[in-house]
Amino acid sequence: MSPNLTNGSQPSFARPGTIDPDGRAGLHGITQTRPIKGRRLSLRPGLLILVLASASFTAASSAYATDATADQPWMDKAQSPDVRADLLERVMTPEERIRLVHGSMPILMKNRAADIIGSGYVPGIPRLGIPALRETDASLGVAAVSDHVEATALPSGLAAAASWDPEVAYRGGAMIAGEAAAKGFNVLLAGGVNLARDPRCGRNFEYLGEDPLLAGSLAGEAIRGVQDQGIISTVKHFAINDQETGRRVIDVQIDLAALRESDLLAFELAIERGNPGSVMCSYNRINSDYACANRNLLQQTLKGDWRYPGWVMSDWGAIRDAKAAVEAGLDQQSGEEIDKMLYKQSVEQVVGQASFDSDRLHDMVHRILRTMFARGLFDRSPSPRAIDVQADAQVAQQVAEAGIVLLQNRDRLLPLDEATARIAVIGGHADVGVLSGGGSSQVLPVGGAALSLPVPKGTASFIHGILFDPSSPLDAIKAETPKADVRFASGDDIAAASALAQNSDVAIVFATQWMAEEADASTLALPDGQDQLIEAVARANPKTIVVLETGGPVLMPWLPHVASVVEAWYPGQRGGQAIARVLFGRISPGGRLPVTFPADTAQLPRPQIPGWDLPRPAYPGGPETAFAARYTEGANVGYRWFDARHLKPLFPFGFGLSYTEFKYRNLSLKGGRTVSADFDVTNTGLRAGIDTPQLYAEISAHGTPPVRRLIAFSRVALAPGETRRVSLTADPRLLAAFDESGSGWKVASGDIRVVLAPDATSTALSGGVKLDPNTIAP
Ligand code: BGC
Repeated sequence: MSPNLTNGSQPSFARPGTIDPDGRAGLHGITQTRPIKGRRLSLRPGLLILVLASASFTAASSAYATDATADQPWMDKAQSPDVRADLLERVMTPEERIRLVHGSMPILMKNRAADIIGSGYVPGIPRLGIPALRETDASLGVAAVSDHVEATALPSGLAAAASWDPEVAYRGGAMIAGEAAAKGFNVLLAGGVNLARDPRCGRNFEYLGEDPLLAGSLAGEAIRGVQDQGIISTVKHFAINDQETGRRVIDVQIDLAALRESDLLAFELAIERGNPGSVMCSYNRINSDYACANRNLLQQTLKGDWRYPGWVMSDWGAIRDAKAAVEAGLDQQSGEEIDKMLYKQSVEQVVGQASFDSDRLHDMVHRILRTMFARGLFDRSPSPRAIDVQADAQVAQQVAEAGIVLLQNRDRLLPLDEATARIAVIGGHADVGVLSGGGSSQVLPVGGAALSLPVPKGTASFIHGILFDPSSPLDAIKAETPKADVRFASGDDIAAASALAQNSDVAIVFATQWMAEEADASTLALPDGQDQLIEAVARANPKTIVVLETGGPVLMPWLPHVASVVEAWYPGQRGGQAIARVLFGRISPGGRLPVTFPADTAQLPRPQIPGWDLPRPAYPGGPETAFAARYTEGANVGYRWFDARHLKPLFPFGFGLSYTEFKYRNLSLKGGRTVSADFDVTNTGLRAGIDTPQLYAEISAHGTPPVRRLIAFSRVALAPGETRRVSLTADPRLLAAFDESGSGWKVASGDIRVVLAPDATSTALSGGVKLDPNTIAP
């Protein structure tokens, strides 16, 4: 619940800037007592067992920063974070240092104080003014996890990525951080940047698509948005946790160069741009070592090549061998109750041994403290901020509007004519709200979920059910066109829906696909007979518009029979309004696909998800059969795979229509150490609109034929008739091949083709440039 909401019970805050008699400062966290209206509150299955075993929640002391005093020289803000961390560490006892390198999962803590909520907690050290780390999941808003915390629900990550707009990502991050701070959190488990290597991955909706440049740039901006609010953000899940099936046991095998040029490049760019305080290592193995105990990943790449100064925290239940993990570069164990319960692993025990390398412990502690200093956690006393739910909902709506992609628009059926008299709205629970994705990122929206449906049988998912955000597209459509006769059919009865469509001027079918953490989709087909519903409605009325609320790409067997298709992803707290505004042309759709929509799953590198046939664990973390999967596509993720294999997708990466048209002219290209391009973009239509010119280079790496790579893009808003000259310069790493022997990124000399295009498969203008050979440090 947001502190400025007045219905239901009030969150209880202690007085600003005070320390209560238990030694707890005010303002950290709220006590939320209101249950979700009429809905079962849930715990992660599996964790339920652990929770039941945990003791009663009696108050325990927690710690917060106190004011600086003369005997606390580390409170001197004029010193650098590293110096301050050193000064502080010098006076810490061994026990105090160890206390920082392992954390709890609040719902599993014994004797938990009521204000300790969220996903993670590392107690502070009051004697030294070290504040507690209070962590919440926050990819798409402050997540509900096990607490009944309402927050503004942003659209899915893919929706934000479809904006191709770093500013949109920044605003979303800043909004989440503002709400998180108001609820007392200071670490956000955000910044998910795993590539959409397989469109069936259950968590793609949380992430930012299939391209390292697009995903890395937007993740970096979202992280910057968070951290500019004085809050630490993670980037996660490091790395190549690109499928949910068997995520705890899969051994992903991939060539190092390919890994650096794909998933790790997305992380590298996100880290450079966003400077996240922490990196969360993932569950899976990579080339035989678990990610959280992978020297190549943590020591060599992250802390070595990239000189990353922050700390590495583990994903919850990702430590199989605590000693191996800390030796490989893990700095902090998260949710230790889970590792202890499932795998008997404790970082506290390992680092507590007299034989443990004191330099390593110093490094672990230093990284955590210097980051806390760098982000100002010691210097700002927590201040209660009322959440402006209206302003935050506006941000959610802007992200949704920026990310909606118009995929088809036959005979320009859209935008809808104001004079359209009879409108049929069908399916997708559009009468109550819009779908959201499941898992640890699940936000309980402001106002409560509009609808909660049971999760499909056998889905090892999280406990909230399938939640719909309270933003009814039906109501929003009615509000846009008050004079029209707008009627709703649930779609459960196909004959009734068809009859309604037949008696209407247009039919708008809402189709949904729920995706969630811990579960991949077996198929890209829309579930629950929705294809048949759409076919039948389109037969009854060819003026059929399909609005998709999906976790990612879906198949569209009905495409030739419908007029228009709008991809709205999971559109969040104000999704209904955003969809209605696009349908009625209040804005021209400006989103472009951040993922390839395949025509068939047979086109994917792996027609079946590795491990799919193996028995599922009875509960998350339960015993399961380990397996290896070789990702043979290497760095050719998404559109690059389609290009390399000459496959024709249903809709290509980068694609999206507008209500106006754009033309590119006067392309001038420059080669040398990198590629630069200057060109004109003109809005040749009659409406204002947003275009996203994309620059691709055809690069041959490691002796393979040239494949397109996105090397730069821009988002340009243009009035009718307006022309803008755009200049783009590529990051040379995008033109290079990574050299596994350690020398770095190598740009080969020679002529390459550069293409300016509205998507990954077409060509508007192109030209050749000559590249000079050069090497960029790894
Ligand atoms: C997820 C993380 C999340 C963590 C804490 C894990 O299961 O993979 O993304 O941050 O739980 O909730």
